[in-house]
Amino acid sequence: MDQNGERRVVSGEAVAQDSFIDSELRPRRLKEFIGQEKVKDNLRITISAAQKRGEPLDHVVLHSPPGLGKTTLACIIAAEMGVSIRVTSGPAIERPGDLAAMLSSLREGDILFIDEIHRLSHTVEEKLYPAMEDFVFDIFLGKGPAARSLRLGLSRFTLIGATTRFAMMSPPLRDRFGSRYHLEFYEGAAMLKILERSAVILKVAVEREGLIQIARCSRGTPRVANRLLKRIRDYAQVMGDGVISEETALRGLSMMEIDSMGLDDVDHKLLHTIIDKFDGGPVGLDTIAASISEDADTIMDVYEPYLLRLGFLDRTPRGRVATRLAYEHLELSRKENTAQGSFL
Ligand SMILES: Nc1ncnc2c1ncn2[C@@H]1O[C@H](COP(=O)(O)OP(=O)(O)OP(=O)(O)O)[C@@H](O)[C@H]1O
Ligand SMILES: [Mg+2]
Repeated sequence: MDQNGERRVVSGEAVAQDSFIDSELRPRRLKEFIGQEKVKDNLRITISAAQKRGEPLDHVVLHSPPGLGKTTLACIIAAEMGVSIRVTSGPAIERPGDLAAMLSSLREGDILFIDEIHRLSHTVEEKLYPAMEDFVFDIFLGKGPAARSLRLGLSRFTLIGATTRFAMMSPPLRDRFGSRYHLEFYEGAAMLKILERSAVILKVAVEREGLIQIARCSRGTPRVANRLLKRIRDYAQVMGDGVISEETALRGLSMMEIDSMGLDDVDHKLLHTIIDKFDGGPVGLDTIAASISEDADTIMDVYEPYLLRLGFLDRTPRGRVATRLAYEHLELSRKENTAQGSFL
């Protein structure tokens, strides 16, 4: 969240306005899901093997930075298996009773999707272990010597967990998943295909060169790509003839203060802080967070992964370090912006 209380346009995190585009543009079947070829190949095999055996799918954990397709894939797995999916999240399951109610409502093969699974409370998590392993749930009634326990038998279900923080999941929980998939940032060609698909669904008039510019600034993240497409469509309608051409895309992106690599003012502030205030680093995450008035968790989940992937930032045991590439990129943006009299 910035000082004006607005989310960044290029953040992979979902905001309220995204829920409509997210569901409207969400691929429904595996063949519509673009990119992530290795994950799709493995999933196809696992799904068809489970179907041949007539058994529920093994528990699956999906992890990636925000906006890369975890929820989408969970829904696709349910569709491919031909089962129902029930969606919840780690923080929403407050008490073991909430979990018991959800688990007992599932039928054989159904999927329980727990988003942000790393945020499950310890007591709820412990109840999940026997449910995942033996499909049972123990309920304790009463206290002291009169206490009794009741064992609830569950249908054989599949748990799909999603997380942006695999490292924060406890090892016993991780071990109970039969398969684990990591979604990578998307390559340029896949981003372009995603944008082409979205433009057709949204009935936006586009030129390929325009989409290439949007793809380049989308941080390898489909949610960002779809959001930028919508914003630039509005811009094209108001400022031009409604067509997203290369020129309209470039102007729109520059108006949103997004540079040629998809970095915005927060990324710039972060890199400038490390370089100017801390001599390039190493500097601790909390110090950076305090300097740019951002939450350390948000920096780690949302901003850093893409800067790391660009090779602009290094994580060392003593803190974050800005790389030569970051210096070069900032210098280049500075020159471009001086030429254009722009913002950063
Ligand atoms: N491979 C893909 N092909 C086409 N569109 C995709 C793909 N992956 C994601 N999307 C689009 O990106 C949007 C965000 O994806 P999704 O909600 O699945 O991300 P997520 O990883 O669950 O994010 P979060 O971590 O915030 O929960 C979806 O609306 C979907 O339209
Ligand atoms: Mg999600």
